[in-house]
Amino acid sequence: MATELPTTDIRISADLIRRRKGGTPIVCLTAYTYPIARLLDDHVDLLLVGDSVAMVLHGHKTTLGASLDMMIAHGQAVMRGSAKACVVVDMPAGTYEDSAALAVASARRIVDETGCQAVKLEGGVDMAGQIAAIVATGIPVMGHIGLLPQSVEKDGGYKIKGRTDETVAALFADALAVEGAGAFSVVIEGTIETVAADITRRIAIPTIGIGASGDCDGQILVIDDMIGLTVDRVPKFVKEYADLRSVIAHAAESYASEVRSRTFPGPGHVFSAATGKDKT
Ligand code: KIV
Repeated sequence: MATELPTTDIRISADLIRRRKGGTPIVCLTAYTYPIARLLDDHVDLLLVGDSVAMVLHGHKTTLGASLDMMIAHGQAVMRGSAKACVVVDMPAGTYEDSAALAVASARRIVDETGCQAVKLEGGVDMAGQIAAIVATGIPVMGHIGLLPQSVEKDGGYKIKGRTDETVAALFADALAVEGAGAFSVVIEGTIETVAADITRRIAIPTIGIGASGDCDGQILVIDDMIGLTVDRVPKFVKEYADLRSVIAHAAESYASEVRSRTFPGPGHVFSAATGKDKT
C-alpha cells in the first residue's frame, strides 16, 4: 500500500463540511473499496460511497441495481480504508421514497452498520419530509438535485436540467427545500452552469457540483471516470486525470506474454529449498 493509515481517527464531520460554505473548495470523490479509500483519504475532504457502485463495479445499467446490503458492504470497506475523510453513503432507490419512517430506518441501518458520517438521497421538494425526518434523528443528510441518476429511466435518459424557466424554477425550489429540511450540503448534478452558480449564491449550505459549475462550493467526480478506468462512455463533464485503462491493458499484455514464454515466474518469484529464509 502507498500510504500508512494514521493512528488517530479524526474524521471531518458533516458539520465541518457545512461550515466550509464559500471557503476553499470542498474536494469530493466517490470510493467503493478499501484500497481506493486508502489511496484517496489524504487528498480529499469527502468520500461518497455512491450508488454508482452498482454500475461502476457491479456492471448494472443504472444505479437502480444498488441495494441497501450492497451500499453497506461498500460503506464498511471505505470506512476501513479511510481515517480522515467525511464518508457519506448513498441511500439506494427504494429505501427511502415511500415514507419518512422507511427513510429513517434505512438511514439508521446504514449509519449503524458502517459508522459513516452521513447519508445522501436524491430529490428536492418531494423528499424534504424524508430529509427532515432523518436529520431529526441526528443523522446528517446530503441532498442531491438536478439530474437524478435514480430517475433516468423515468426521465427517459440523462437529461441536463435548467434549460427552461420552468426547470430553473424547479431547481431553485428543490435547492431551497433541501436546505430548509436541514441537509448539510447538496450535490447539484447535470445542470446549466449559470443555474448551479446562482443556486450556490442563493443557499447557505455548500453545493457540490458534478456537471454543474466551477462556482459550486465543491466538486465531485466518480473515481473510475477520473482515473481513466471507465470502459464505457465517459460523460462530457469528466476530466480524466490518468489513463488506467492503458496501464492495465499493458500490464495484462506483458504478463500474458511472459507466462506464455515461461519468463514468469522467474527466479525472484519462486521459493528455493536452499536458503530456508524465503519471504512470502
Ligand atoms: O452515486 C454517485 O456516484 C453520485 C455522484 C455522481 C454524486 O451520486
